Amino acid sequence: MNAHGSMRSHGAGTIRASDDGQEVVLAGWVARRRDHGGVAFLDLRDRSGVCQVVADPTAGEALQAVHDVRNEYVVRVTGTVRTRPEGQANEKLATGEVEVFASAVEVLSAADTPPFPIEDGIETDEGVRLTHRYVDLRRDELATRIRARAQVTSIMRRVMERHGFLDIETPILTRSTPEGARDFLVPSRLQPRSFYALPQSPQLFKQLLMVSGFERYYQIARCFRDEDLRADRQPEFTQLDVEASFVDEEDIYGVCEELMVELWNDVLGQELAVPFPRMAYEESMRRFGSDKPDLRYAMELVDLDAVLADTGVGVFKGVLDGGGSVVAVCLPGGGELTRKEFDGWIDFAKKRGAKGLAWGVVEADGALRSPLSKFMSEGEIAGILEACDASEGDAIFFGAGETQFARELMGALRVALAHDRGMVPEGEWRFVWVTDWPMFEWDEDAKRWDALHHPFTAPAAEAADTFADDPGPALARAYDLALNGTELGGGSMRIHDRAMQEKVFELLGISKEDAEERFGFLLRGLSYGAPPHGGIAFGLDRIVMLMTGATSLRDVIPFPKTQSGGDPMTEAPAGIDTEQLTDLGLRILPPPVKG
Ligand code: AMO
Ligand code: AMP
Repeated sequence: MNAHGSMRSHGAGTIRASDDGQEVVLAGWVARRRDHGGVAFLDLRDRSGVCQVVADPTAGEALQAVHDVRNEYVVRVTGTVRTRPEGQANEKLATGEVEVFASAVEVLSAADTPPFPIEDGIETDEGVRLTHRYVDLRRDELATRIRARAQVTSIMRRVMERHGFLDIETPILTRSTPEGARDFLVPSRLQPRSFYALPQSPQLFKQLLMVSGFERYYQIARCFRDEDLRADRQPEFTQLDVEASFVDEEDIYGVCEELMVELWNDVLGQELAVPFPRMAYEESMRRFGSDKPDLRYAMELVDLDAVLADTGVGVFKGVLDGGGSVVAVCLPGGGELTRKEFDGWIDFAKKRGAKGLAWGVVEADGALRSPLSKFMSEGEIAGILEACDASEGDAIFFGAGETQFARELMGALRVALAHDRGMVPEGEWRFVWVTDWPMFEWDEDAKRWDALHHPFTAPAAEAADTFADDPGPALARAYDLALNGTELGGGSMRIHDRAMQEKVFELLGISKEDAEERFGFLLRGLSYGAPPHGGIAFGLDRIVMLMTGATSLRDVIPFPKTQSGGDPMTEAPAGIDTEQLTDLGLRILPPPVKG
């Protein structure tokens, strides 16, 4: 097969002035037609690009054929390349200096009028586009992202294989592999009333592959998580999943940084500086109110606990006396915000569960214009301005509450303000490793400890003997890679000792029987000679989203799901017929009555 397939001689987008005079055969879609009667033009599109085809009365039947075709017909054109007349070149097209003078035009496939124009930047409803995704994917902006995605996976394979990682598949029909979401379940016909779970990640299998002795594994793995969907979350997504034995954190960081450098270099032609900076989780929460800090802009959080220790502001005093914090964000030039805009930000805070959000504007001579200033001493105000490094014309926002809550709230406000006020620089890539995560977090509602990463993560050396008795301060050997405020990936060094793994399950409130029932295969695996091991997984879709400047994962997944988890094209999920239900031993209950 030649590069363009035997039905044609050239790719439409590859024709150049140097081909002048050559006979060519092209095949593709009619992107556009301009019919002036005596002379008619077609823009012919294939995967390589677009080329102009022209026919006039000397072309005989070819002219009639060009009259008859419509947009998106699939045609084959035989003709001769000629350079366009002086002044008629199209600089926007790679083929803009030439056209193909048609001698024959053959319709290979007719087409209905497309449901929306095949152009970039269209404002067609996404539901309509997803219903006709096969047409949507013809649009250059989408097709370019799908191509970039293929390039990304290819580079990933190259880098991983260079380092001796082996591509190994793990099952899709399996038992629950928990990563903190709900499982998608598949009923078994051969074993009625039993269910497979789709993997939330290959986590347990990759650990068992380390027990098997493969030492270096990777997989471009599909993962399934039944959780509430957002722009950066799909129920079905892809990870670059990695695991290695006899390694430590530095080995993992090294390979991952090399991978990112190559991705950015080969796909975007941009140079990344390595090593990436590292930041402890505690510092990230304190300075940015987030475990995935966006380092492209400043506006760091300011802790006002000391400055406000004796404040006369009732809400602040109450929170501080109760062991909470008052956290501030200073918005440069925020003094120009209107009352209504401030109210908008107060609503932003309330929607996130805050009781309120206070604000003040710095005026001349260190005065603070604020509903609260009458309760503040001059010294207090001076202390606030100094701590915030605020100057005239800036606005300061104050959030008071339980420390972690106040930090996360003000961290979210920081990000929203930066985007709203156009303070996010374009074209900057700020990677950061977030390290030293707590091993557990207390779930106040369920009154139990949860694993912050996942239950297979090893404790830091200092916590190895203490985590069971004192889980709160125990740190884990876990790490995340964040980029511009998005979590790209995360991983850890794992527990490779059965007794320690059992201790973690116990601490998480998983009984011995439960642990045996759910994770018995892992525990047994760990007792047959498990090497020290660790790894990481990256969200492939997220990497491609950020690299291509897309704002939703839907724009980098060929056939994505909507917010409600559906696919408008296939109309999945769908009902099933009675016979299938019977085979599976299932009965559908009537929908619950809303009370
Ligand atoms: P984690 O749960 O952090 O770790 O997932 C790793 C990365 O996968 C991506 N990701 C998602 N992308 C799109 N849609 C989703 N619903 C979604 N959920 C997660 C994120 C995330 O950083 N087994 C561990 C990894 C390990 O410890 O090696 C794991 O799955 O980019
Ligand atoms: P209140 O006492 O509820 O009338 O609030 C007085 C001021 O403090 C208002 O401007 C509130 O928006 C603000 N406020 C209330 N609760 C908080 C809080 N937790 N953090 C910051 N400001 C708050």
